[in-house]
Amino acid sequence: MESIEIGNSGLRASRVGLGTWAIGGWMWGGTEEKDAIATIQQAVEQHGVTLIDTAPVYGFGRSEELVGKALAEGGLRDKVVIATKVGLNWTEDKKPFRDSSPGRIRQEIEDSLRRLKTETIDLYQVHWPDPKTPYGETAAVLEELKQEGKIRAIGVSNYSPAEMDDFRKGGSLDAVQPPFNLFEREIEKDVLPYAELNGLTALCYGALCRGLLSGKVTIDREFEGDDLRKNDPKFQADTLPNYLAAVDELKGLAQERFGKSVLALAVRWVLDQGPTIALWGARKPSQLKAMDDIDGWHVDDAAKAEIDAILKRHIPEPISPSFMAPPSKAA
Ligand SMILES: NC(=O)c1ccc[n+]([C@@H]2O[C@H](COP(=O)([O-])OP(=O)(O)OC[C@H]3O[C@@H](n4cnc5c(N)ncnc54)[C@H](OP(=O)(O)O)[C@@H]3O)[C@@H](O)[C@H]2O)c1
Repeated sequence: MESIEIGNSGLRASRVGLGTWAIGGWMWGGTEEKDAIATIQQAVEQHGVTLIDTAPVYGFGRSEELVGKALAEGGLRDKVVIATKVGLNWTEDKKPFRDSSPGRIRQEIEDSLRRLKTETIDLYQVHWPDPKTPYGETAAVLEELKQEGKIRAIGVSNYSPAEMDDFRKGGSLDAVQPPFNLFEREIEKDVLPYAELNGLTALCYGALCRGLLSGKVTIDREFEGDDLRKNDPKFQADTLPNYLAAVDELKGLAQERFGKSVLALAVRWVLDQGPTIALWGARKPSQLKAMDDIDGWHVDDAAKAEIDAILKRHIPEPISPSFMAPPSKAA
């Protein structure tokens, strides 16, 4: 598996990272512990993944606990970069809201270290910008945690370049985590060039656009329980057919030009756009097999232009992923 250094931290990680939001169950219709543990262990042992992304809010501690358990039981802690997050609190009835205040961060780090069964978090990322706390103040607390040996590298997620400029006045920054996939390309105009210019690694989330780019979603797929795709604007009756038509054409291109699946094309494309890591959400071992198809080839400029033409034809006005943004204050 290809690897990349995370900013200037000296940490190296595989360019495909395992995303564990769905493994936490919340907003993904539940989770199966046995499958979750096997997915985490097999991603590392059999598919060369050395970065696992999680967050306290994923299942309100559940995802971090499962990551900690899988790595401890498998004796795998030293093989991976654990990337978790900080700065989302939640109400008693489990409604998340943003809070990157120093007090909240000091509490969260201890909770995350305990759940992850580790003494150090490799990459600690602020989950969403919190307008109530000056960004430099948040950065300064994270810098302290680094000095104390509780974290190794610092990242932010869902920040604009201006917000990152403010953050960097208070401390160092190695990585940014924005949404990025073939259907969600807003960062091409600002965050991605900013990352390149400032030596940041971009951990791109939703690399499969919540499964849409897996090539397996059909028009009649039904989602269970609290699955966020019930409310995802791209998965609605009036929009899904356009996205699926694009996926169909991309499938043809991937097969004809590269002999690959559309899923492999989607992930490879993310890796060929800059200093990126593609975060790939999986919760069953069967979903990992396709990871072996990502290395050893590239999406060339001609193919990129054909992809752009396909997207323009079917989705002239792409829908933003902003429906996922949590509120600034507790409701
Ligand atoms: N920082 C942030 O604000 C933020 C926001 C979102 C995500 N993230 C991170 O990024 C990670 C990845 O994003 P994501 O999980 O939202 O979405 P994603 O990676 O775009 O899609 C994940 C979903 O795709 C489907 N899938 C995966 N592999 C497949 C395969 N081989 N064949 C068919 N379907 C497959 C699965 O859905 P089913 O299991 O339902 O089939 C899976 O849950 C997250 O887990 C999280 O770590 C961060």
